[in-house]
Amino acid sequence: MRYLIAALAMAGILSGVPAFAADEPITIKFSHVVAENTPKGKGALKFKELAESRLAGRVEVEVFPNAQLYGDNKVLEALLLGDVQLAAPSLSKFKRYTKKLQLFDLPFLFADIDAVDRFQKSAVGRDLLNATSERGLQGLGYWHNGMKQLSANIPLKAPGDAAGLKFRIQASDVIAAQFEALDATPLKKPFSEVFILLQTKGIDGQENTWSNIYSKKFFEVQDYITESDHGLVDYMVVTSVEFWQGLPDDVREILAQCIDEASDYANQVALEKAIGDRAKILQSGRSEIIQLSPAERRNWIDAMKPVWAEFEDEIGADLIAAAQTAN
Ligand code: SIN
Repeated sequence: MRYLIAALAMAGILSGVPAFAADEPITIKFSHVVAENTPKGKGALKFKELAESRLAGRVEVEVFPNAQLYGDNKVLEALLLGDVQLAAPSLSKFKRYTKKLQLFDLPFLFADIDAVDRFQKSAVGRDLLNATSERGLQGLGYWHNGMKQLSANIPLKAPGDAAGLKFRIQASDVIAAQFEALDATPLKKPFSEVFILLQTKGIDGQENTWSNIYSKKFFEVQDYITESDHGLVDYMVVTSVEFWQGLPDDVREILAQCIDEASDYANQVALEKAIGDRAKILQSGRSEIIQLSPAERRNWIDAMKPVWAEFEDEIGADLIAAAQTAN
């Protein structure tokens, strides 16, 4: 029996750590919900290219874009079950595993994406990558998409313009509170359903980045986009603790480097797309871009910012203060 237990433990069966066959490549399935031509889509492909060239014959990476395999509501469970090994859900989608990441949903917390970047690279920001590890999910890095804009069928210039409208939101209580503060109705819906909901007028509006609005053609079914920059869509690249700790040490180390390099690449793509996709939407003439004056923007800040107090206890006042120092 002692020998059986030892053998099982070595094979990782008792410890929950997966054992990998020495003569077969380790398959890494990377599931995400956006198009390939987006910061995350391109980052995932860059990771595949780096990992397969540096660990040739030892690792194979399969990337599944456009929610082909799992939507964001299911992918974290799939990671824990070992059905996929990597994902990069938006930071708004981790609420079941930690309340701390709700920080990133607070409206008007960060002045711009550079401030987000500074915070994520700080000690406090890096530490947040471990916020879900007790629940079996290990953050490996942050990837940017960009600042969020508001789109709707009517022009949104003042916060009161949103009252009574239905907005699709990600599964985030902070974002729900943000729309409730405008007397609007937030509806938590998967990303894959947004276009059809907009097209069929099941919703009146939504909030997203230039890259997502462009790549998923939301601008073709929304007459107005308010350049509000009121929040962000960023991602945590995540794996399961079990998979990650079960990897041979040298493979884990090289994969971590590949994630870091893919992060730099994805973040550069994000900066370019925020400008380029906005320009393409403007050029299309399909959707009018509304720019806010400083006074108009102030009105949106005043309307949305009371949400912070509601979530301060769950997120932590110290964390909110640390994030603000990045501005
Ligand atoms: C994503 O960029 O991964 C999706 C964001 C959303 O659900 O709006």
